[in-house]
Amino acid sequence: MSRRPRITVFGTGYLGTAHATCLASLGFRVLGVDIAAGRIAALEAGRLPFYEPGLEPLLRKGLRSGRLGFTTSYPSAAEFGDVHFICVGTPQRPGAPGADLSQFEACFAGLAPLLRRPCLVVGKSTVPPGTAAGYAQRLPVIAPAGAGAELAWNPEFLREGHAVADTLRPDRIVAGVWSDRAEATLRMVYAEPIAAGVPFLATDPATAELVKAAANAFLATKISFINAMAEVCEVTGADVLSLAVALGRDPRIGDAGLRPGLGFGGGCLPKDLRALAAGAAELGAGQALSFLHEIDAINGRRRTRLVDLAREAAGGRLEGRRVGVLGLAFKPGSDDIRDSPALEVAARIRAQGARVAAFDPAAMDLARRVHPDLDYAGSVLGAARDADVLLLLTEWPEFSTADPEVLAKTVARRTVVDARHALDAAVWRACGWDYRAPGRPGTARARGISDDLGTGDSGTPDREDDGITGTGDAELSQAAVACLAAAS
Ligand code: UDX
Repeated sequence: MSRRPRITVFGTGYLGTAHATCLASLGFRVLGVDIAAGRIAALEAGRLPFYEPGLEPLLRKGLRSGRLGFTTSYPSAAEFGDVHFICVGTPQRPGAPGADLSQFEACFAGLAPLLRRPCLVVGKSTVPPGTAAGYAQRLPVIAPAGAGAELAWNPEFLREGHAVADTLRPDRIVAGVWSDRAEATLRMVYAEPIAAGVPFLATDPATAELVKAAANAFLATKISFINAMAEVCEVTGADVLSLAVALGRDPRIGDAGLRPGLGFGGGCLPKDLRALAAGAAELGAGQALSFLHEIDAINGRRRTRLVDLAREAAGGRLEGRRVGVLGLAFKPGSDDIRDSPALEVAARIRAQGARVAAFDPAAMDLARRVHPDLDYAGSVLGAARDADVLLLLTEWPEFSTADPEVLAKTVARRTVVDARHALDAAVWRACGWDYRAPGRPGTARARGISDDLGTGDSGTPDREDDGITGTGDAELSQAAVACLAAAS
């Protein structure tokens, strides 16, 4: 293919919309395709149907340039495109751990019979191991173009809230290809990031699809590892924040993904972890990944532990108590409430008879639809009003900078549970708050190394700034380093 390929992107969720918009910004002609007419109409009008910082202006720019368009028509898309990216959702099957590939199957089955000229179909959705090979066999049989229609796999690694940056400058581009032609085409699509130094890793499709699943499983494992250590900290009196900093300083471990707290949620990590374990088991490699069930279980325990902490903080019962909740999205910078730890904790506390007033900067509308039983406040102050206990469940920056002195005047009792370690414990305590956080001693401080965390204790009056980590922390650090290094 000598001219610039024309591109279609099937599925206009976070991934597909970001991919289509970013490729248009790089000068490609791009058509986004979806069966949801309402979504396509919104995108055509320059409106994002979800929250993603920085994406809407780029979408409007693409539309204005005439290079970016949207359609519900598969025949138009098949006629238009040289490279067809499939970015549809692969959610968890209802009531089962495996992936529901019905959207992928419907997209493939709708597109393949329309492919009359040479083209590349590129799977981008996250799928269980072994998926690409099956579709690669079927494609030339179903497509009128025969062997001219080829399959490749090119997983995405974008994080919600960072979709534009992660799409334009990913850490790496992984291209799973069966032919030089497919590799050359993908190199053309990604010429700009490759020229900017992004590594292009060409491999076979079976490996490419597994890279994505394995990356998510590894990230989830890291998060659950530090959260499991938080459980140990709670029985030894060690401090999980100091521990995380000390672990992260080992270059073999690194500090990314070691933020302890309420654990992982969202539309990717939890379901991809389960789909990988279930897929491997179906292929006879279940034992190899049986540890992923424990990773999932540790993650689930965080939510239970937080409800318990809230109950303890509320004086031993939740019934009749007023609980202020800060944060509902599964992470800051997103309105996504899929498998959100924050929303689940809020709902469980409500189910135990507490009155819950919640505030989130972005996720209120979506949360209200799923949980009309919660009260929704218009601000941090509104959520805190008359609260017996205040919970920070998602670490939005505006929560970390909230003034504990001002909040102290609005709550009924100055008790805060900081599930994400986002508040400055010393400052809050200095304002008379009973500050609690999972994995942290009730009275001890993260000493000496806590500045590294950015959000931890920092040079405040009641801090014991002796530059020495407590003995319990150091012992546990060593044990944890050895354990994680052995696992990796
Ligand atoms: C993730 C992967 O990072 C991305 O590469 C993949 O393409 C899709 O899934 P995302 O779901 O957007 O992206 O969120 P991420 O930033 O990875 O966070 C996932 C969850 O883990 C969030 O709930 C977050 O709060 C939690 N988390 C993350 C922690 O609890 N501790 C950490 O140290 C990091």
